[in-house]
Amino acid sequence: MDIKAVSGDITKLDLDAIVVNLFEGVTTPGGATGVVDQSMDGVISRLISQGETKGKKGEITLIHTLGKIAPSRVLVVGLGKQQDFDQDTVRVVSAEACRYLQKLGVQKAATIAHGAGIGGMDPETSAQAITEGGVLGLYRFNKYISKKENDKEIEELQIVEVDPGKIEALNKGITRGRILAEAASLCRDMVNEPANHMTPTRMAEIAQQVAKEVDLEAQVLDRPQMEELGMGALLGVARGSEQPPKFIVLRYRGDRENEANNLGLLGKGITFDTGGISLKPAQGMEEMKTDMAGGASVISAMQAIGQLKPKINVTGIVPATENMPGGSAQRPGDVVRAMNGKSIEVDNTDAEGRLVLADALCYARRLGLTRLVDMATLTGAMVIALGHVCTGAFTNNQEMVDQVIRAGKKAGERIWQMPMYEEYKEQNKSDVADVKNTGGRPAGSITAAQFLAEFSEDTSWVHLDIAGTARAEKEKGYNPKGATGVPVRTLVNLTLELAED
Ligand code: BES
Ligand code: MN
Ligand code: ZN
Repeated sequence: MDIKAVSGDITKLDLDAIVVNLFEGVTTPGGATGVVDQSMDGVISRLISQGETKGKKGEITLIHTLGKIAPSRVLVVGLGKQQDFDQDTVRVVSAEACRYLQKLGVQKAATIAHGAGIGGMDPETSAQAITEGGVLGLYRFNKYISKKENDKEIEELQIVEVDPGKIEALNKGITRGRILAEAASLCRDMVNEPANHMTPTRMAEIAQQVAKEVDLEAQVLDRPQMEELGMGALLGVARGSEQPPKFIVLRYRGDRENEANNLGLLGKGITFDTGGISLKPAQGMEEMKTDMAGGASVISAMQAIGQLKPKINVTGIVPATENMPGGSAQRPGDVVRAMNGKSIEVDNTDAEGRLVLADALCYARRLGLTRLVDMATLTGAMVIALGHVCTGAFTNNQEMVDQVIRAGKKAGERIWQMPMYEEYKEQNKSDVADVKNTGGRPAGSITAAQFLAEFSEDTSWVHLDIAGTARAEKEKGYNPKGATGVPVRTLVNLTLELAED
């Protein structure tokens, strides 16, 4: 779908459909919706007074214009209550409208910039949200389906504005929205891909391809280099698999004069998590192809960062391996040593995410990175605590987590901070090593985060547990069923924000 900003009168456009909007509770529509209403003999006002159109968020009313105005159809989309209106409303509404239009077989459509009128939103933000919502809402993963649904993709969506002075801002928003949505779509594609295709090697290839396309430095470490660096925790996990592990590093240098202006993004890249010798039950195991979502979001965010070119240095790090129960697999009770020399008792081979991230955190510190964000489908306990509604955040730096949460809010990706009281560390104590990789059932997500904290040490760090948010069980708003692309847009927003100050 091509999206572009156009200046003019939306009622004069000879298109298959136009999209206007309505806040809940409005009885006489104003702005562009008002103009359409008047040129259509008040049909929208009448639908409102008859109670058929209420303006509820996501509600869609289809009106055929029968030659009264140039476009063949008008779609009135509900924006919900004005006091609840935000960027995410625009994304949701844009996704619903685009899907509806696509089902109708519409090829060329136009929309007004939702919220840019009485909503008080600036046109750039509105255009960005329309683009993100539209592109993400139309996303499908159907490459393995032979008989595809025959819906033809919408060819063109125009964002129409009367004031030609606003076109530049709209175009800026469209460009940024597309970069963000395409990054999130890349992440979705990687996560939706089955694990027989999305191997560590394939992840590394994609990272290298992204690096080439947007001009990043790429480095992929193989087993011998990992051995040399002493990445015993990661290598322990990789032992059970026939697939070679890959340690992927992507570097974007946007502030070469100022090395200290940096950010490290680390993502768990378990391309399939069987649990290892501590084997998972069969039911639901297929979902564990999602276990590389953290890593996929790092590679995808790096793509967007390479395109947007903020003034900051960003390093993406993805420890990628399978967690399989092969003949050489590590056993419960084994002791391994991470790159920083700490010994770890592997109490449960299914707590593998924290093991691979331990070495990634050490490596990031070795590179001299001063701010770290890691993301991982780390614990089932996270799904129990917060469900699929928000990501859990854990930190050793309050200011930094506040920034991450704010970046998430802007992206419509909710994040909720969890506590990190010292007492939780007790549960990770081992009788035979410096630390063990499980802390028992109580507060399972927090003890996992406390384990990671042993390896981020005194570096400012935020850990995002995306176990509940990386995948959606049913279609909702601009998220189809399957991979969501969380937290790609949060990471990009954070990077842009850090680059500003
Ligand atoms: N990848 C899983 C966590 C997970 C579970 C993500 C469900 C998404 C949905 C992780 O590697 C894992 O197996 N964690 C264990 C840890 C336990 C053994 C301490 C868990 O949560 O059960
Ligand atoms: Mn596991
Ligand atoms: Zn896992």
